[in-house]
Amino acid sequence: MTNNSQTYFSSIAGQWDEIRSGYFTEHMRDAAIAKTHLPENAVVADIGSGTGFVAAGLASKAAKVYGFDASTEMLAVAARNLEKFPNVELKQASGDSIPLPDATLDGIFANMYLHHAPDPLTAIREMARLLKPGGALCITDLDTHDHEWQREQMADLWLGFERDDIRRWFAEAGLSEIDVDCAEGTCEACGPDGEVEPLSIFVALGRKR
Ligand SMILES: C[S@@+](CC[C@H](N)C(=O)[O-])C[C@H]1O[C@@H](n2cnc3c(N)ncnc32)[C@H](O)[C@@H]1O
Repeated sequence: MTNNSQTYFSSIAGQWDEIRSGYFTEHMRDAAIAKTHLPENAVVADIGSGTGFVAAGLASKAAKVYGFDASTEMLAVAARNLEKFPNVELKQASGDSIPLPDATLDGIFANMYLHHAPDPLTAIREMARLLKPGGALCITDLDTHDHEWQREQMADLWLGFERDDIRRWFAEAGLSEIDVDCAEGTCEACGPDGEVEPLSIFVALGRKR
């Protein structure tokens, strides 16, 4: 995690749930989770789990949910948000070094984390490492955009991604059945002058061979 990102997320952890609600809805989250067709008693992880939005959506659909995030402040809010789910375990970790053995997970989810990863391919390879054969990786993030202010205001390292790059990185990480499609909705970023700027979001799916 970069210093900027660390500073940003430690300062807004208490407000993240409200900020996030303008970016990503429960409907979009649940539609993305449904696309992965998790097996019974799935063991899954939410990478860059923040305050636990995706982990909360997974808790009733999986036997065990890990949430990994670099920010202790975001994890502290997540612990409060998720206290009613005994099957959720939160841990501090960098996304490029997750403390789990190879091939332990049936599904991995990362919502709005990849544009904070210093090296997106390394982050995707690390997620692929954790998947069992047949396990699904589901990344939801922004398509490329030109809102430079998001680097300054939200510590974004990447102004979204080209879908072809995501397809290529998934393939390079050893994933198959790759599908990158539109999320069920757009997100609405509030720019520095208060204007609302819609941003398009993709859902990327791949399966470990
Ligand atoms: C935009 S927030 C998204 C949070 C959550 N996934 C959600 O949907 O609300 C990005 C999260 O990624 C975390 N993060 C950023 N860089 C990271 C890294 N290198 N390793 C692990 N977590 C990271 C931040 O601390 C933050 O909680």
